[in-house]
Amino acid sequence: MMFRGVPAVARTSTTATTTRTRLHRVIANRTNFRSFSNSIPAAADEESSNFLSTGSGGHLRLGHSVEPIPYSSDIEISPVNYGANLGHKKVSVVGCGQVGMAIAYSVLNQQSAGTIALVDMNREKLEGEAKDLEQGSAFHQQVRILASDEYSVSANSHMVVITAGAAQRPGESRLDLVERNVAIMQNIIPKVLTFSPNASICIVANPCDLMTAVAAKIAGPSVPAGRIFGSGTCLDSSRLRSLISKKLDLDTSAVGGYVIGEHGDTSVPVWSSVTVGGVPLLGHGQDPSKMHDDMHKEVVDSAYDVINKKGYTNWAVGLTGAHIAKTCLNDTRRIMPVSTCVRGLKGIKEDVFISMPAAIGSTGVQRVIDLPLTDKETEKFLHSADTIWDIQERVWDNL
Ligand SMILES: NC(=O)c1ccc[n+]([C@@H]2O[C@H](COP(=O)([O-])OP(=O)(O)OC[C@H]3O[C@@H](n4cnc5c(N)ncnc54)[C@H](O)[C@@H]3O)[C@@H](O)[C@H]2O)c1
Repeated sequence: MMFRGVPAVARTSTTATTTRTRLHRVIANRTNFRSFSNSIPAAADEESSNFLSTGSGGHLRLGHSVEPIPYSSDIEISPVNYGANLGHKKVSVVGCGQVGMAIAYSVLNQQSAGTIALVDMNREKLEGEAKDLEQGSAFHQQVRILASDEYSVSANSHMVVITAGAAQRPGESRLDLVERNVAIMQNIIPKVLTFSPNASICIVANPCDLMTAVAAKIAGPSVPAGRIFGSGTCLDSSRLRSLISKKLDLDTSAVGGYVIGEHGDTSVPVWSSVTVGGVPLLGHGQDPSKMHDDMHKEVVDSAYDVINKKGYTNWAVGLTGAHIAKTCLNDTRRIMPVSTCVRGLKGIKEDVFISMPAAIGSTGVQRVIDLPLTDKETEKFLHSADTIWDIQERVWDNL
């Protein structure tokens, strides 16, 4: 007689018979499956039942030498392999307010991590956020969500995104805010590095360029250059590209180009290298017009505008942070304008951190692109560097 789909060793061995008997006992105990179990003979004749046939009740009858598929309760439970399909990648978000949660939500939807760990000092709010996020798990791939005010929850992260920061108080100077945020970084960075010594760290908290410089200095020389970088003008560039594409009624992916320098007021739109469908937007040697300047002003003002209207910005920066995380976790080496030390570039002598396009991979910034700039763009870029350094140098030597 032909045996179908059953390994030869299983057909006659005592082990197979024992397994069958055990399965029969388990299945027979399930009253809701009685009609099915009745069709499986406990010790029927091997020769006569090595086939599939329909029983008298019209049910599919299982010949006893064909192993029924075990029920889940018959399978030995082994440690849960969370995020098995996502390469066990772990991303931690430190600071889970509007921006941190928008980043976590975007990472979840982009399915770029197997584990997302949330860290915030506001324990109760954090518990609420984690619970809320987890309860949508029926609608996304398996991702483990961890949350705690203890940094141990972030242990062995591949990437850590830091959004924790104090907001400017009414009447507070920018420098005072910087000093308060420096204190926050002094608290956070050593803890992050204790638990994830090899993680890439992306700083999103504002003032982004200064906080990135501060975080890198606190981390010290044992952390390789580039492992700590800021989201910088990634968001500003996205804002500019989306404005251009809207004007031209095109998909944003058709528009290439960068805003560089400070994430903020002195940022520089590099009109000389903006392309649409790979074609330069401006003719060779053509200067940007008032329309282009107005567009850049809209980019700079848009954060203030959104904050005036809804109280905070979160969705665009959430997508930006998640995109950076995905690039890092997957080591895809996309080119993005991020904040990194630009000493040596365009004649800059200080350890100032501002944005230039850079290749991002699993170890953070892997190389910085020396983007060709016109004389005017270079002048603006150097002005942006000076503006940041003016504030950075006041805290730099005390770190
Ligand atoms: N880089 C960018 O493109 C960009 C864009 C938007 C906002 N931001 C900045 O992101 C930061 C966060 O903005 P938000 O709107 O989410 O603010 P938020 O007040 O909603 O959230 C900040 C969170 O950080 C937590 N926190 C503060 N100190 C902490 C500490 N020491 N340890 C752990 N958690 C701490 C707070 O409990 C809070 O949940 C701000 O600095 C904001 O300016 C940056």
